Amino acid sequence: MASLGSPRIHLTEVDSTNSRARELAQAGAAHGTLVTAESQTEGRGRQGRSWAAPKGQSLLCSVVLRDPPHLLPLAAGLAVSDAVALHAENPMIKWPNDVLLDRRKVAGILAEGRPGEGWAIVGIGVNVAVDIADLPDDLRGTAATLGLPAQSIDEVLSDLMSALETRIGQSDGELLEAFRARDALFGERVAWSSGVGVGCGLDGTGRLIVDGDDGIRHLLDAGEVHLGTTVD
Ligand code: BTN
Repeated sequence: MASLGSPRIHLTEVDSTNSRARELAQAGAAHGTLVTAESQTEGRGRQGRSWAAPKGQSLLCSVVLRDPPHLLPLAAGLAVSDAVALHAENPMIKWPNDVLLDRRKVAGILAEGRPGEGWAIVGIGVNVAVDIADLPDDLRGTAATLGLPAQSIDEVLSDLMSALETRIGQSDGELLEAFRARDALFGERVAWSSGVGVGCGLDGTGRLIVDGDDGIRHLLDAGEVHLGTTVD
């Protein structure tokens, strides 16, 4: 395994691996400290959403990073897509870092941190062995799974830690170029909270460029973007 992932704290059940990793980071945990779990009672997603994962079927992990790169959300999305690419065809990334297979979400990332204190947590959920029928109704139409046996979860974790180590060492230019090749929104109709338009790639700081139907070129640096023309 890469140097990311050690020490590892593995829990049968936890509220959220991100919450546990945050506590560890605040208490001084070393770069690379990893929290994994078989299940979460309060798995957290982006934009205040929850993250659902049937027990024992997913990779649920959070890693502590010291001095993280400022394009960490992109680096993490690329690393997850690298690991997914070892087991599935053509993973794409929906900005900033949802990993998709055939336009369905196979992995999500929640990066959070304290830039002032020099640490971040990258929390990753990958549907490694998820039976889509075991997910809540509202996710069944939009989720994907690698369809691997549950015994493969640790192999995917190891692939992921290696890929993350590589990606966080890359320059902004390398990350942006790699993202371009996997950009699920490029040339697609997209919608966000205040408009609709067409995805036109990322700018040099990782913002999403959208040519809006209002004739304005928008630069989005946070929030949620949807493939298609509705935001629900
Ligand atoms: C998203 O796509 O909304 C982000 C989902 C992130 C889920 C992972 S699962 C492991 C880690 N612990 C959490 O509570 N969340 C992240």
